[in-house]
Amino acid sequence: MKKILICYFSGTGNTKKVVEKACQSLQGMNCEVKLHNIDDGEFKENLNEFDMLGIAYPVHAFNAPSNVIKFTKSLNKLENKKSAKKPLFIIKTSGEPLALNNISSVKIKSILKKKGFILNNEYHYCMPYNIIFRHTDNMAYKMWNTAEKVIPIDCKEIVDGKKSKLKYVPFGRLLAWIFRIEHWGGRVNGKRYKVNDKCISCQLCVKRCPTHNITIEDGEFKFGKNCLMCMRCSFHCPKNAIKIGWFEKWKVNGAYNFGIPNEVEEEKHKRYCKKAYKKYFAKNQKKIEDFEKSNKKESC
Ligand SMILES: Cc1cc2nc3c(=O)[nH]c(=O)nc-3n(C[C@H](O)[C@H](O)[C@H](O)COP(=O)(O)O)c2cc1C
Repeated sequence: MKKILICYFSGTGNTKKVVEKACQSLQGMNCEVKLHNIDDGEFKENLNEFDMLGIAYPVHAFNAPSNVIKFTKSLNKLENKKSAKKPLFIIKTSGEPLALNNISSVKIKSILKKKGFILNNEYHYCMPYNIIFRHTDNMAYKMWNTAEKVIPIDCKEIVDGKKSKLKYVPFGRLLAWIFRIEHWGGRVNGKRYKVNDKCISCQLCVKRCPTHNITIEDGEFKFGKNCLMCMRCSFHCPKNAIKIGWFEKWKVNGAYNFGIPNEVEEEKHKRYCKKAYKKYFAKNQKKIEDFEKSNKKESC
């Protein structure tokens, strides 16, 4: 029985949904899986006790969020680092199937290599945007429906020790470094967040912020300098009362319904979505069909 640890961060729930499905699939393959939510603070696990490590995160400006990078830096080196490297797998979710998103793991990969881990598997799942524009319920359903079917196939590869990596675009390391300006930009922009008069003071944002960046002083909401731009506060605000600074026009509010939509919605980005995600859906559909075929052959 393989012992697997998956450490994840999820701003608005997409990555968590994917990780939970992966956990369920791995357990179905007779693995013992432990999940660690990076938000939960203190990390008490002993990495030497696990056969594999998984890291999962949402892509933020073609990078991993800063708290995920910080977390990987804080991990201890493996005891037998020099003798055998332990397998690492990375799971990322993003709003777009852009190849540029693949570079988001370069930093984590190199940090963990120094600690004794070797990246063997890397997977990317499109999940609906939590910033920029709201995907339709139909698109969200299609994305989840695809991920839900592909995750068990990918998990089987992980367990079987079959390597699978994503291709990095040329100059990926440099590009990722440049785009990490978002980590700084997020902190600056985070201080510009404001609560408007629709606020009912439920304080969900205060309670849920992963960096405890939102406080109430003299009855007023204060946004500090540790914003991750994860969108949890504004995305889940029940009254859509949080203004997100320079990115207000890109704000997405309200959880997605991942089920089969009841009614046909107006699709503002129909043409773009049809074109941009075509390859992603086709590639994954083929993967699902190939897997089903090989399963049928085996059972014959
Ligand atoms: C600050 C920020 C930056 C983002 N940057 C990208 C990006 O570079 N590429 C992309 O495809 N999606 C990007 N997204 C979209 C998220 O990666 C995507 O919606 C993800 O599934 C959210 O996962 P979560 O719910 O676990 O936070 C970004 C989202 C945020 C909030």
